[in-house]
Amino acid sequence: MRITVAGWGNVGRTLGNAWRRAGHEVSIATREPESDRAAGWRADDWVVGRLVDLAVDADAVVLAMPGSAMVESVTGAGEALAGRLVIDTTNHLGQDGTLHRLGELTAVLPQARIVRAFTTMAWENFENPTLDGRRLDQYYVADPGEDAAIAGLIRDIGLTPVHLGGLADVEALDAITKVWFHLVWRLGYPRRTALTIAGTPPG
Ligand SMILES: NC(=O)c1ccc[n+]([C@@H]2O[C@H](COP(=O)([O-])OP(=O)(O)OC[C@H]3O[C@@H](n4cnc5c(N)ncnc54)[C@H](OP(=O)(O)O)[C@@H]3O)[C@@H](O)[C@H]2O)c1
Repeated sequence: MRITVAGWGNVGRTLGNAWRRAGHEVSIATREPESDRAAGWRADDWVVGRLVDLAVDADAVVLAMPGSAMVESVTGAGEALAGRLVIDTTNHLGQDGTLHRLGELTAVLPQARIVRAFTTMAWENFENPTLDGRRLDQYYVADPGEDAAIAGLIRDIGLTPVHLGGLADVEALDAITKVWFHLVWRLGYPRRTALTIAGTPPG
C-alpha cells in the first residue's frame, strides 16, 4: 500500500518505519519540505513533500499532527484526499473533553474514507507491540467497507485490531483513551500501560 504520513513525530515516525519494514511504500508529508530536517529524511531514502502533493498518489494518509492543528492541516486538501483511506490518530486535548474532531474532519474531507485508530495508547507500544508476552489490542472505529484495510495496517504494526464500530461509535473508542489518560497521567501508571478486553467477541 502507498501510505503518506502527515506529521513525522513519535506516532508518525514509529508507524511509518514499521509499515516500511512490512513492505509498504511510505512517504512523509511535512509543512516544510525544503527544510534541513526534510533533507535528512531524503538522505535516509524517504520520499518527502507537501500533503496535497503526496496524497494524490497515496492509498492511505495518516494524520499524526497535534489534535489542535489537525483540521486546519487538511483544510483545502479535500480534493487530494478524496477516496483515500484517512487514518486519524490525533487526540484533541481541548477544554470541552472531546478528544476527536470527526465532525469537522468529515466536513472538510467529505469524500475521504475516514477511520480513527492508534489513539488509545502510547507510541511506545507501536514500536514494541507486545507486553508481558501478549500482543496488544489496538481499538479503532471504521465504517463498513473500511474495516479490512485498517485492520490489515494495524496487524502490520504487530497489534491485534479490535473494531469498536463505525464513526458514530467514536465515544466508545475515546472512552478507552480517557481511561488511559487517567491511569497514566493521574495515577502514575507506566506509559506502556494498555487496556485489554477479556472474553470472546461476537461472531
Ligand atoms: N505521543 C503519543 O504517544 C500518542 C499516542 C496516540 C496518539 N497521539 C496523537 O498523535 C498525534 C501526534 O502526536 P506526536 O506526539 O507523534 O507528534 P507531535 O509532536 O504532536 O507532532 C508531530 C508532527 O506534527 C507536525 N505539526 C506540529 N505542529 C503542527 C501544526 N501546528 N500544524 C500542522 N502540523 C504540525 C510536525 O510536522 P512538520 O513540522 O514536519 O509539519 C510535527 O513533527 C497527536 O494528535 C497526539 O494526540 C499521540
